[in-house]
Amino acid sequence: MLGPLYNTTCHHQSTPSLSLSSSFLTSSIANLSHTSPKFTILDLGCSTGSNALTLAKKVVNQFKSHSCGVPLTYIFNDLPSNDWKLLRSTISKGELNAEIKYVPKSFYECIVPKETVDLSLSYITAHWLNPPYLPSSSVLIQESGCTGVWKVKAHYDLVKFFELRAEELKCKGEGIFIMVGGGEEVEGENSGDTPYCNWCEPVGLEHSVFTEALSRAGLSNRNCFVGYYMRTLSEVLSALSYVPSLELLNSSTSTFQISTESTIEQADLAWSIHGCSIINSGGLNEDEGERVKEELRNVISEYCSEGGVVPYLCVRVKRKLRN
Ligand SMILES: C[S@@+](CC[C@H](N)C(=O)[O-])C[C@H]1O[C@@H](n2cnc3c(N)ncnc32)[C@H](O)[C@@H]1O
Repeated sequence: MLGPLYNTTCHHQSTPSLSLSSSFLTSSIANLSHTSPKFTILDLGCSTGSNALTLAKKVVNQFKSHSCGVPLTYIFNDLPSNDWKLLRSTISKGELNAEIKYVPKSFYECIVPKETVDLSLSYITAHWLNPPYLPSSSVLIQESGCTGVWKVKAHYDLVKFFELRAEELKCKGEGIFIMVGGGEEVEGENSGDTPYCNWCEPVGLEHSVFTEALSRAGLSNRNCFVGYYMRTLSEVLSALSYVPSLELLNSSTSTFQISTESTIEQADLAWSIHGCSIINSGGLNEDEGERVKEELRNVISEYCSEGGVVPYLCVRVKRKLRN
């Protein structure tokens, strides 16, 4: 199936992720400054660049204010299916005071040579699992608190993600990783791999609105899914504990309120994030995709007029000294 797995229009998430990580970023850059004659920053899952550029400007300015004149290399990464032309154009307009590199590759692989990165960043990305996913039929989005194969896969994917970052980081290099998730797990409420949302009702709604939209579009027999798992903070910390070369410095959780102004906007936002995965996984043609999108607007305007809350979590880590 051709086409990107993920739509890359993510502007809405910029402000909360920046504010959630702001103090961590400041501390990391202050710690790193003066440790090296040049710095390399890696942004994993940068999308088409509008949010990534805001982040990059902040990072570059902070490095320059600490270590004036120090050469910086800023590496932008996303999947090969990303819109690289748009990304390059967005970034070039930003006139970043750094050498720029682009690496189209999955972050479940090594992105750069070992021990070359000072600061590794991943903003709202690691909840996307490493394909191939392990879908169960009719599961759309797997929230935290689920047991079963998705939970296990999400654990191993995150361990792999952390191991790769640990390899790429220089000694004492730091990483700030933000993903959607962060609620508490409720024991005994769920069995098998049925989606269960124990803490974030709107995200549970997101699952049910897609199911309803597919059903209304006459496509409930398709095995549509999104390779997306919302981990609890304890699941993230558990994965981190499997990578002893990374030390946890900080963690935090927060939420972002989705605008309640227009239900059409909400529907289109949900579709912009998950539509490509649903189309690709279910083998929907263009007409079927349009029908689901349209029904999603109807379902959301009937059931979800109050908007929603998206939870985020952030961890800041440091690469320990190598033996
Ligand atoms: C929600 S957007 C975040 C974009 C940007 N970092 C921001 O803060 O707005 C998630 C991005 O992660 C990318 N992504 C998902 N899985 C990936 C993977 N395995 N490797 C690289 N990028 C990935 C998607 O293509 C998408 O552009």
